[in-house]
Amino acid sequence: MNVIKFGLIGCGRISVKHCEAIEKIDNAKIVTCADIIEKRASETSEKFNIKTYYKDYKTMLENEDIDCVLICTPSGLHPQMAVEAADRKINIVTEKPMGIDLKSADEMVQACDENAVELFVVKQNRLNPPIQLLKKAIDKNRFGRLFSANITVRWTRPQEYYDMAKWRGTWEFDGGAFMNQASHYFDLMQWLMGPVDSVMSFTATNNHKIETEDQGAGIIHFRNGAIGVADVTMNTYPKNLEGSITIMGENGTVKIGGIAVNKVVHWEFKEYDDDDKLIETSNSDPTSVYGFGHLGYLQNVVDVLNGQDTPNTDGRSGRKSLELILALYKSAKIGQKVALPLKI
Ligand SMILES: NC(=O)c1ccc[n+]([C@@H]2O[C@H](COP(=O)([O-])OP(=O)(O)OC[C@H]3O[C@@H](n4cnc5c(N)ncnc54)[C@H](O)[C@@H]3O)[C@@H](O)[C@H]2O)c1
Repeated sequence: MNVIKFGLIGCGRISVKHCEAIEKIDNAKIVTCADIIEKRASETSEKFNIKTYYKDYKTMLENEDIDCVLICTPSGLHPQMAVEAADRKINIVTEKPMGIDLKSADEMVQACDENAVELFVVKQNRLNPPIQLLKKAIDKNRFGRLFSANITVRWTRPQEYYDMAKWRGTWEFDGGAFMNQASHYFDLMQWLMGPVDSVMSFTATNNHKIETEDQGAGIIHFRNGAIGVADVTMNTYPKNLEGSITIMGENGTVKIGGIAVNKVVHWEFKEYDDDDKLIETSNSDPTSVYGFGHLGYLQNVVDVLNGQDTPNTDGRSGRKSLELILALYKSAKIGQKVALPLKI
């Protein structure tokens, strides 16, 4: 297996998860990093033993010999950085969401196709053991017909969280509670339930000084006839209460909760399956809502780049939850039901 050489762009909060994960993967190394706040790049370089660092990521791409970039910058910047890397034949891992509009997300996918490089969109919660078991149960048809799905994201984000960086809570670089905080949950919903037919939603900014919503509710009609409900708020008093997904079908009911969809809360099927024995051991206790999934996610990236696996979440797969969230935003804006696919 080749050692995959990574370059990190953006040395903020989530980049730490990438650095810690890559340190644990045998045939992978972050060889360079960049941040417009040079001090962050230099501190990351020192802490994680990264050989070089830059203030300007374009100079980093120009000077360094890397196989893959890890894009950990504000969401609205992901597409332009990905296209520049792809044009240099560099593979891309982008943090979620891949971008905040469909046009630039499509440009990313196209640039990667044209340059024959991989595009990975980080959706680490898909890898949580209870979620993997739930996906397996759906694939084995243990639910029979799927009737309904619910995602509940009842978190707390103080104003100081949004004030930490200018991009947070803006339409240009972030999006709101749906696009940022709940994006993994919308991703799980569409990944588990299948294609979406149409949506309706309400959003509000009730408790923060930000442009985007800090709260919202959505109704999702799936093509298989099932109905989904999303209940999302960053205004829970006084601390994070729940991050869960519930799926109900003809022959089964499952709720996965905990703070990062990491615990089986309810697991019941008409017919027994040996997977039922794995429920207890699948639970975990992450220290933050980011969970433990970056290690598994990046291990898959390394395996794919070594020709040993297929991507867990590629650009086309990452685009689906982006389209769903943008449809919910459109519905909230125009006050009407919105059908998918969205016109670009
Ligand atoms: N997978 C997850 O669970 C998860 C969790 C948190 C954040 N994220 C995503 O990760 C991304 C970053 O979030 P964060 O919380 O780390 O933000 P952050 O503000 O802590 O970090 C972003 C960093 O990017 C740097 N940056 C901005 N513009 C740059 C440029 N042009 N060139 C180089 N560096 C630049 C900033 O200086 C900052 O250090 C967002 O897209 C967010 O949605 C994902």
